Order: sequence, then structure tokens, then C-alpha cells
Amino acid sequence: MLLHFIFPAGTQNMEEKWNYRVRSCNWLLCELADIAASPEQLRLINVLWETQICIRSGDDMNRVDEKVAIVTGGGSGIGESSSELLAEGGASVVVTDINEEAAEHTADIIKQRGGRAISMYQDVTDEGRWQEVVEAATSKFGKLNVLVNNAGIGGVGMDDIEQSSFEDWRKIMSTNLDAVYLGCKKAVEVMKGEGGSIINISSVMGIVASVGVGPAYNASKGGVRLLSKQVAVHCGTLGYKIRVNSIHPGFIWTPMMRSAVGVADEITTEEDLRQMLLLRHPIGRLGVAEDIAKGVRFLASEDSSFMTGSELVIDGGYTAV
Ligand SMILES: NC(=O)c1ccc[n+]([C@@H]2O[C@H](COP(=O)([O-])OP(=O)(O)OC[C@H]3O[C@@H](n4cnc5c(N)ncnc54)[C@H](O)[C@@H]3O)[C@@H](O)[C@H]2O)c1
Repeated sequence: MLLHFIFPAGTQNMEEKWNYRVRSCNWLLCELADIAASPEQLRLINVLWETQICIRSGDDMNRVDEKVAIVTGGGSGIGESSSELLAEGGASVVVTDINEEAAEHTADIIKQRGGRAISMYQDVTDEGRWQEVVEAATSKFGKLNVLVNNAGIGGVGMDDIEQSSFEDWRKIMSTNLDAVYLGCKKAVEVMKGEGGSIINISSVMGIVASVGVGPAYNASKGGVRLLSKQVAVHCGTLGYKIRVNSIHPGFIWTPMMRSAVGVADEITTEEDLRQMLLLRHPIGRLGVAEDIAKGVRFLASEDSSFMTGSELVIDGGYTAV
């Protein structure tokens, strides 16, 4: 049974919404219990009571209350959505991006909704900047529990092994893999006392190859997959309570994806691209950023406390065929 709540105007904060839902359910149950005159009506009340329990546990699920997270590439797409969902779950978020304005925009949205966030300029390939970002998180919010290594660049148009240049290769490897190494290194240093969760955004392209994405993108995302496992094993072996996992999105309709329009002669519009990609996702739709953000929130929360060195594949069946 699904209950839809219409919140009073201006209710944006998650806490207020939660309290409103609990109050509404309690009121409904009391009213119904008063007027119940038959076994059928009492049965309905029981269903509603169970529904309320579902609402409670559903709301408690994936809570990231009191956690402090850094999300790189948080100004757009998957990073933006992940920052917002983490904040909705109660986390304080440091949103970073090479596009400073975009990061600021995400942090503003979070704050307007009653969440806690700051934004920072960060080029993830700059080792020195990592120290400053981590220091900002700990000085503003007191600790660091979660790092989402999300920033990345696409490989579409970077040709094949015969056509691509070493320059293309280095550029993609630097952003998509070297930077994840830098982020993991810094996060382990900071988290090894209290523990934490490192979430590295890889791709289905880190599991299978594809014509058209170029060698560096496949190699960089495959590298993220194994780097995550290596760091997970290192942390577990030394008794650090740091979990490290990778996420493997299928094709997600974000600015990165849309930039692939025009890369092949037959893909001249967004609709062409969408139709071509749809054929590769048995679930019958393309992913949206929130599909991946929900995985991020799950890996950040204690609901995934037995997961480390794992691959969370969220791909609409892309790798199943
Ligand atoms: N969109 C997809 O279909 C898809 C599929 C699988 C994996 N991914 C991965 O998900 C992640 C996010 O992708 P998206 O689709 O949301 O892309 P996007 O282009 O919408 O967002 C990427 C963000 O990263 C930022 N960024 C780029 N280089 C940076 C750098 N050097 N330092 C800091 N920030 C930088 C960009 O400014 C941008 O805000 C990437 O790692 C991508 O490879 C995306």
C-alpha cells in the first residue's frame, strides 16, 4: 500500500517531512480505531499500522545522519544527485568540482532545502588540493566519514587504439584513475582512526569493453574497479574500519552522456542517441543520476556494513546480455 502525503507549503526540511508523516499516520490510525465497527475495518487498521512501520523503516533505511562526505565532480549529473541525496539523508557534504560555479549551485540547493553543505574548487588531479579539501571538511564539519570519487571525463570521440593519441590517453587516465588513487590515499590517511566509506564511481565500461568509448576510458574504469579492491583489502588487513567499493553505472542521461551526440554519423540528435542506448538496456529505460545516487547513499550508510571490495552494478541489465 502506498500513501501519498501532501506536505504543508514550505515544508522542505527532511526532518519536518518525517514528523509530518508520523503525525498524519498517528491521527489516521486513532480516527479509524474509534470508528471501526467490523472485523474488516479492524483489518484495514492493521494494514495501515504495518504501513506506518514500513514508512518508519523505509525512512530509517540508508540514513547517513551525522556523516560528513566529500563528493568530487558534485556540480553535475551523478555527483550533483549524490550530494543532494546524501544531504537529504542527514549528511554534511563538501561539494567539489573543477567547475566552481556548478559546485556552488549544488551546495546552494542543499542549503535551500535545509541541508548542510559547502562548495570548493577542486581539480582532482592536483595532489596538493586534496589536502586542502580534506582540511576544509574536517575544520568545517569536524570529521570525514565518506569520500565519493565521482569526478570523471568521458572517452567518447577519443577513437580507438589505432587512432587515439598518447595525450588523450594520459588526460583520461589522469582524471579517471590517477585522481581516484589520490583521493583514496588521502581518505585512508584521514579515516583510518575512526573508519569510513570510500565509494569510487567506475562504470559498466570497467567490466566490459565497448566500441566507441576509446581505450583509455575502458582502461581507466577497469583500473578504478581493481584499485578499489586493492585498497579495501589493504584497509581490512590492517584492521582499519574503512570500506571501499566501486559503483558501475550503465548509461545515465547526464551532460557527459549527452555530449556523445554527433560522435557517429547516424547519431545526430539526442533522440537518436537515446534510442541507440535504449537497445542496450534490457530494463527498457536509460538510467537517471538518482539511480546511481541511491547506490552511493547505500554504500555510505551502515546498511552496507558487510560490503567492501565489492562492485555495485546499477546498469539496467547492460552487462547481463
Ligand atoms: N553518465 C554516464 O552514463 C556514466 C556511466 C558510467 C559511469 N559514469 C561516471 O560517473 C561519473 C560522473 O559522470 P556524469 O555522467 O555525472 O558526468 P558529468 O559530466 O555530468 O559530471 C562530471 C563532473 O565532474 C567534473 N570534473 C571533470 N573533471 C574534473 C576534474 N579534473 N576535477 C574535478 N571535477 C571534474 C565536471 O566539471 C562535472 O561537474 C564519472 O566518473 C563518469 O565516468 C557516468
